[in-house]
Amino acid sequence: MSKQQAVLDWIDARFPLTSTWKAHVSEYYAPKNFNFWYFFGSLAMLVLVIQILTGIFLTMNYKPDAATAFFSVEYIMRDVAGGWIIRYMHSTGASMFFVVVYLHMFRGLIYGSYKQPRELVWVFGTLIFLCLMAEAFMGYLLPWGQMSFWGAQVIVNLFGSIPVIGPDLSVWIRGDYVVSDATLNRFFALHVIAVPLVLLGLVVAHLIALHEVGSNNPDGVEIKKNKDPETHIPLDGIPFHPYYTVKDILGVVVFLIVFSAIVFFAPTLPIGHNSYFLEMPNFDPADPLKTPPHIAPVWYFTPFYAILRAIPSFLGTQVWGVIGMGAAVVLIAFLPWLDRSPIKSIRYRGPKFKFMLVLFLISFFGLGILGAMPATSERTVISQVLSFVYFMFFLAMPFYTRNDVGSVPVPSRVTETNGKRQLMFVVYWLVAIGGATLFAKLV
Ligand code: HEM
Repeated sequence: MSKQQAVLDWIDARFPLTSTWKAHVSEYYAPKNFNFWYFFGSLAMLVLVIQILTGIFLTMNYKPDAATAFFSVEYIMRDVAGGWIIRYMHSTGASMFFVVVYLHMFRGLIYGSYKQPRELVWVFGTLIFLCLMAEAFMGYLLPWGQMSFWGAQVIVNLFGSIPVIGPDLSVWIRGDYVVSDATLNRFFALHVIAVPLVLLGLVVAHLIALHEVGSNNPDGVEIKKNKDPETHIPLDGIPFHPYYTVKDILGVVVFLIVFSAIVFFAPTLPIGHNSYFLEMPNFDPADPLKTPPHIAPVWYFTPFYAILRAIPSFLGTQVWGVIGMGAAVVLIAFLPWLDRSPIKSIRYRGPKFKFMLVLFLISFFGLGILGAMPATSERTVISQVLSFVYFMFFLAMPFYTRNDVGSVPVPSRVTETNGKRQLMFVVYWLVAIGGATLFAKLV
């Protein structure tokens, strides 16, 4: 017996190392037809690690104190060795987290990955999304710039519109009557330790739930239904390692090229007169006496912010907008029960679902663009129409998915990706990017 094997045996007698590796990696059988959309789960884990590591180093020089926070960030950028790259990695990482997670969620939507038996994978995912939003919101206050301060002020004030408990609740959240040093201190504590701990726990639960039932795939076929009678290995399954470890490394390399290009050449992500990853007003220190002319959240919150602004106050309270915005997020968790179709993948679904999905995408992109702009009466009307479409996608789902029959029947085994599918994929992307650019120019 080799020395290595002896060490491994010693460990295995005391800790389930080899069996865990086998169960979750080298003998975890995943469907053999994973495509582009399956890169984003491992990429989300990569970004989580980047955020935690860069966050630890930022904390070494950042000061959670209203008098010094802004300047401690300037100090990190100018004087701390390598400080600028750590900070830009963290700020770029925040936005890239949402890019990756939105694409990851969209994959679930098109392939019906939330459906039975993966409901809990999806519910844990939605909780992760909620935590991520809280984490990003609190992190954004920390540089104590103009947008940090006024963004937090606007959002915390929203809680004040809740009947009866609202005013007390917003004071409780801030720890003061306005966003202040007390708010900064508690947001720091929550951002650096409390929420990341919950996030990590939820990611572990997400993966345990996924490995319990096995991955879905672009055909929406359950590979466990076709097993080799002797080995009991799914006929359409391949071991995660080495096949998907290698595939995921390709995703990591491409992702890091894009990530580095942003960090080194465009860390604020300027487009036109605005910048999207770091906003211009945040390069000015917070000033409670000077409200910026246009307060908008960071791009990843704008679809939900547009819904908030679209819903008018009614019966003398603005709480309906707050309820609408909350419902827009919470409804996502209910998809497994709203979708009544037995068909999982979009490849075999009927036209009604496809039509509603296109409308949903238009509403989500449209609201995202409108939420970043100052409100005008025309834009408010468009936001109201798009919010209606957004909610109809969810609320009407039990009806339009009831008799969901596509022209191609669901196959019993997974299929190969063909050239036509790949071409259509490129066409869809071009139409979506072109359409969004045109819409942004028009409104
Ligand atoms: C920190 C954020 C997240 C991490 C690290 C993460 C990680 C992962 C990983 C590694 C996988 C397996 C690989 C893959 O299918 O791509 C996965 C699958 C999945 N995730 Fe996530 N995830 C995150 C957020 C979310 C969110 C927000 C949702 C939805 C609300 C979600 C829903 C799903 C679903 C449904 C699957 C199974 C997909 C399938 O089998 O087709 N995840 N996740």
